[in-house]
Amino acid sequence: MSKKNYKKKDYPVEKVRRFLEPGPVILLSSAHRGRRDIMTMGWHMVMMDEPSLVGCFIWDQNYSYGLVRRSKECVINVPTVDLVDAVIRVGNSHGPEVDKFEAFGLTAVDATKVGAPLIAECHANFECKLIDTSLIKRYSLFVFEVVKAHAATSPRYPTTVHYRGDGMFMVSGRNVSYRRFFKPENL
Ligand SMILES: Cc1cc2nc3c(=O)[nH]c(=O)nc-3n(C[C@H](O)[C@H](O)[C@H](O)COP(=O)(O)O)c2cc1C
Repeated sequence: MSKKNYKKKDYPVEKVRRFLEPGPVILLSSAHRGRRDIMTMGWHMVMMDEPSLVGCFIWDQNYSYGLVRRSKECVINVPTVDLVDAVIRVGNSHGPEVDKFEAFGLTAVDATKVGAPLIAECHANFECKLIDTSLIKRYSLFVFEVVKAHAATSPRYPTTVHYRGDGMFMVSGRNVSYRRFFKPENL
């Protein structure tokens, strides 16, 4: 492998997320006492696999914040690139003003273990229970346990969209297997 000799300059620390942005943009659905909502989310992270824990940053000004905090549940829905228009529209609108399912043509389907609805058009749906509230007040960080997961059987690697900030998305592309180089426990 040839070594790259990058020319670099100072980079604003508050913008390093451009490089570190995590997995696919997701649509987080929630419901409480007859109200339902969807928000777009880029800031989430896997925290553990068994149990299956996911940390999510939900800004306290979002309508979803109250619904999730009160119901202690949500669904993490994984959209593909064909839904990018809805992803942006959902992110541009505020819960109480609009029913985002109706407004953006998304279909709510009953979940099995939580009250929040699944979004049928998404490739995968993860039903989540809020299991740790200790970081919410300080960091708006909600720690969820995925208690039930639904995933499409095909395609194996869906074309997901990953937010880079500044209105830019990276669309997932080529899949390359390096499996043979991995320690089994890291797979
Ligand atoms: C690509 C994208 C990623 C976003 N990521 C987050 C996020 O990680 N956390 C967050 O609180 N808001 C995020 N937002 C903003 C919310 O989706 C937005 O505030 C939304 O309108 C909230 O809806 P609500 O008020 O109905 O809950 C994102 C928006 C976009 C377009």
